[in-house]
Amino acid sequence: MKIMHIVGARPNFMKVAPLLQAMKERAGAFEQILVHTGQHYDYAMSRIFFEELDMPEPNETLNVGSGSHAEQTGRVMLAFEPVLLNYRPDWVIVVGDVNSTLACALVCAKLGVQVAHVEAGLRSFDRSMPEEYNRLLTDQIADLLFTPSEDANANLLREGVDPARIHFVGNVMIDTLVKLLPIASARPVLGDLGLEPEGYILVTLHRPSNVDEPGPLREILAALEQLAASRPVVFPIHPRTRERMRQFGLQASGVRFLEPQGYLNFLALTQSAGLVVTDSGGIQEETTFLDVPCLTLRENTERPVTIELGTNWLVKSERQAILQAVEQAWQKAPRSSSCPPLWDGKASGRIVEAISGLG
Ligand code: UD1
Repeated sequence: MKIMHIVGARPNFMKVAPLLQAMKERAGAFEQILVHTGQHYDYAMSRIFFEELDMPEPNETLNVGSGSHAEQTGRVMLAFEPVLLNYRPDWVIVVGDVNSTLACALVCAKLGVQVAHVEAGLRSFDRSMPEEYNRLLTDQIADLLFTPSEDANANLLREGVDPARIHFVGNVMIDTLVKLLPIASARPVLGDLGLEPEGYILVTLHRPSNVDEPGPLREILAALEQLAASRPVVFPIHPRTRERMRQFGLQASGVRFLEPQGYLNFLALTQSAGLVVTDSGGIQEETTFLDVPCLTLRENTERPVTIELGTNWLVKSERQAILQAVEQAWQKAPRSSSCPPLWDGKASGRIVEAISGLG
C-alpha cells in the first residue's frame, strides 16, 4: 500500500515520526512517501527534529515558507497538487491543525485521493483561532478520522460524522515522548543552564491572540519579569514572538530567552520544570502525561482532558491573573499520576492496523 505523509510545521514532526517507524516495521507492507511543505523552514523549527526523531529525508519539499493564511494555504495547495498526481498514493495522512494540514487534505478531496486525519475531532469552539477552521474543515473532508481522546469522538458525532469513519486510537505524540524520554532525561541541558529540577518556570508563547497585539504580550512579559525575580524563568522563544517583541519594543529583564529548542532538550526541560506556562496545544498534552503543572494562557482549549485531569489550568493573559495562578500552581503537590486512555505509546500501531485493514 502506498502511503504519503505530510509534515509542514514544528508540531507535526513528533506526530509523523512514530507512524513512519511503525509502517517501516511492517516490512514490505507499505511504500512510504514523505512530503514537507516547508511551512516551517529554520534549522531550529524543522531540520533538528528530523535528526532527533530519526526521520528520513523528505521525498519532496514544497518550500512554501511564511505568509498570510491565504498565501500559505494557497501555496501549499498549488505546490502539492502535482506531487500528489505524480505519486498517486492509496492514502494521504495529514496530522494536527496547521495550514498545511487543511491545504493538503483539500487537494486530496478534489482529486479523489483518500485522506486520513490524525488528531481528529479536537475543538476549541473558538473560531477566532486559525487552527479551529483547519480542524473543522479537515475533519469534514477526511475519509478516516483518528482521534486522540473520547471528547474528540463526541465532537465528531455531534457534527454528524459517520461513526464508521472514526477510530479512537489515542495520542501519537505520546508515542514519541514515551520512546525518547529516556534519551531526553539523560541530556545535560539542566546542568548547562544551571537549573535545579522543579526549580524553574518553562515558558513558550506563539499564539496570535497573545503575541500579535502589544496589549496581551506586554501583560504576559510584565508577569514573567516579576516571576523571574524569585526563580529562573526559561523561555525558548518562537521566531514569531521574537519578531513581535522587537516590533513593539518590549522586553522582560531577568527572563532567560533561549533559541527554539530541539525535541530532546525541550522534553528534558518540560519533564523537570516546576511549572510550565504556554499557549501551545501539544505542550498541554505532554505536561499532562508527565504530571507537570501547566498554565495555558488562553480562554479555551481544544484539549479539555488536560483540564479534567487536573494538570492544566486556563489563565487569562493578564499580569495579575498570571501571577496569582503561578503561585497557586507552584504549590500544587503531590503531582497526580493519571493519564487519558490510550495515551500509552502505542497509538501509531493502532493507526497502522486500521489502515492495513482497509486496502
Ligand atoms: C504555526 C501554526 C500553529 C502551530 C505553530 C507551531 C498555522 C495556522 N499555525 O504557527 O498552529 O501551533 O505553527 O509553531 O498553521 N518563522 C520563522 N522561521 C520558521 C517559521 C516561521 O522565522 O521556520 C516566522 C516567520 O516570521 C513567520 C512567523 O514565524 O511569519 C510565523 O510562522 P507561521 O508558520 O506563519 O505560524 P506559527 O505562528 O509558527
